[in-house]
Amino acid sequence: MATIDELRDRRSVRAYTDEPISADDERAIIQAAFEAPTAGNQQLYSLIVVRDQALKERLAVVCDNQPFIARAKLVIIYVADLSRWYDAFLAEGLDVRTPGPGDMALAVVDTAIAAQNAVVAAESLGIGSCYIGDIMENYEELVRMLDLPPYVFPAVMTVFGHPTQQQLERTKPPRFAYEDMVGENSYLHISGDRLSKMMGAKIGVPGRDRNLEAFAKRKWSDDFSVELNRSVCAMIRTLTDYYTEPGDAR
Ligand SMILES: Cc1cc2nc3c(=O)[nH]c(=O)nc-3n(C[C@H](O)[C@H](O)[C@H](O)COP(=O)(O)O)c2cc1C
Repeated sequence: MATIDELRDRRSVRAYTDEPISADDERAIIQAAFEAPTAGNQQLYSLIVVRDQALKERLAVVCDNQPFIARAKLVIIYVADLSRWYDAFLAEGLDVRTPGPGDMALAVVDTAIAAQNAVVAAESLGIGSCYIGDIMENYEELVRMLDLPPYVFPAVMTVFGHPTQQQLERTKPPRFAYEDMVGENSYLHISGDRLSKMMGAKIGVPGRDRNLEAFAKRKWSDDFSVELNRSVCAMIRTLTDYYTEPGDAR
């Protein structure tokens, strides 16, 4: 039950006290990530812990100008990593296919589950966190900044720190209702008034059409979102351009 209570009470934390995260806590948080399940126990990810302040500041800019990233006490990037296994197969002289989008999809799932383990571990230590989805943007620039080899994609970034009092008192954003989220045995189709009500409740202000329009502008059509899609397409293109089945000529 304690875990369920903590999951319910967790909120994203974007402002931090000056208290550093101890080496023991950092180690425990990262080790918790490694305890997560992974596809075939392959652990198709690796971590980059960002210690350099100049790099944090650059990430704050590249990740859609979010200055709190540079103020976080611990910044972890989880890269979906198909390079390790592929390199090991090649070093062994094996004739394997090149990594493809399916492998990358599995690897991204691995990164997300591991990252959430770390987030939950941090929460149990009184340390707040926030995901930064914008790490999936500007793929080519991040490859240069982080010295990423081929078949490695920065899928998840999480930033950590001890929450300020204001952050502890912040109201958690609403979730969709259980009934609107759960289909039994098949997809739950929702449309019309029910869909409008569901979305209206989420964004929380009356006058739903205008609000949905504003929400769409802010989240769906904003420049960051266009860049996110361009960046992920660029990463997938590099995978599909070089994808070969076993035995294919390279
Ligand atoms: C994949 C992902 C990407 C996110 N990216 C950002 C981000 O770039 N900046 C930010 O401030 N919050 C980001 N968040 C946090 C969400 O805004 C937050 O989880 C959501 O509003 C729900 O609030 P809660 O975490 O406080 O419950 C992200 C969360 C996830 C899971």
